Amino acid sequence: MQAKIQFNCVISPYPAQKIVNLPLFKMNMELKEHFNNKIFKLISETADELGLECYVVGGYVRDIFLKRPSKDIDVVVVGSGIEMAQAFGRKLGRGAHVSVFKNFGTAQVKYHDTEVEFVGARKESYSHDSRKPVVEDGTLEDDQNRRDFTINAMAVCLNKARFGELVDPFNGLDDLKERTIRTPLDPDITFSDDPLRMMRCVRFATQLNFYIDDTTFEALSRNKERIHIISKERIADELNKILLAPIPSKGFIELDRCGLLPLIFPELVALQGVETRNGRAHKDNFYHTLEVVDNISKHTDNLWLRWATLLHDIGKPRTKRWEPRIGWTFHNHNFIGEKMVPDLFRKMKLPMNEKMKYVQKLSLIHISEPTRQAEISYAVFCLKKKKRDSL
Ligand code: CTP
Repeated sequence: MQAKIQFNCVISPYPAQKIVNLPLFKMNMELKEHFNNKIFKLISETADELGLECYVVGGYVRDIFLKRPSKDIDVVVVGSGIEMAQAFGRKLGRGAHVSVFKNFGTAQVKYHDTEVEFVGARKESYSHDSRKPVVEDGTLEDDQNRRDFTINAMAVCLNKARFGELVDPFNGLDDLKERTIRTPLDPDITFSDDPLRMMRCVRFATQLNFYIDDTTFEALSRNKERIHIISKERIADELNKILLAPIPSKGFIELDRCGLLPLIFPELVALQGVETRNGRAHKDNFYHTLEVVDNISKHTDNLWLRWATLLHDIGKPRTKRWEPRIGWTFHNHNFIGEKMVPDLFRKMKLPMNEKMKYVQKLSLIHISEPTRQAEISYAVFCLKKKKRDSL
């Protein structure tokens, strides 16, 4: 009989790894100090000269409170983002490069290492079969309403009169403190409008070690089928970010719990379950795999080594046999795994170059290491041989 082990916990079920805690932010932090540089002063001056309301919004604001480095600055202008970017570019003078994306109503200004994206505040409405919205001009409130999560919807005013003022209509700051991912509006609307946000939801929870609010989580399950309108490339981007998180298992367990994993990665789900015959059981290869991924993640940030670990037993379901004298066997699962890797990479729109070959090679030879923790030691062995350097 095939039994599925259910882990209803949010975190990884094994005590193997310390949860990485983010530094606590100060609630009364003087926000102004974070905008005390030439770039923000010049944006502020430009906005006041044009008589436009202007705010830094999204990830940049979130990351200030999380004390995470953030390069990309997103600026929302109540009015024309393009006009604002062009005026700001002129103010910066030589060294500034302005790119205008008329179709999207956005413009980017590059100045040395800094990139600022300007967009007009907008209202969005979506049709059922596309994540391309119909866009209208809107207020700051409209713009914040259309964002994915409360922690990503905070804005800081740059106009002189209100410089450094936080506009946080959905209490994103409280959610940061409570380590919670929650949508600003009804999550069914937020996820159905743009189903990529379901992947982002699990990704942020994994990267930041946050909880997904119950109502938001339930909407993941209800809207999971909408994931089919998202391109494979974008799903792969999010999977890569989950895999690069400190404890990747958390993301895969959440994706499984909400029902997205069978839709985007059925081969991994096929590893689940424990079968018992004559009192003999084999291990649950899904949780075993995740445990090995978490372990390798303590040793390396090499994405492709993490992929290799995730796929190291992927051939097991196809090779599972019951041999009365031995018990459960998975003979040649590494050869089957080796064959599966290119097909999986192609299907998931992962690169088909030497990175795929590296993952493929590791999945072929992983079981030949004669050590206790074969997978991990093999990976470390590869690192020592500087295979990593060639990637
Ligand atoms: N956003 C959104 N829905 C998306 C993508 C983005 O609402 N599907 C909004 C969020 O407010 C987000 C902002 O656009 O903060 C910028 O998006 P992006 O640069 O993709 O994300 P960040 O939040 O900056 O984080 P990361 O770079 O890690 O993706």
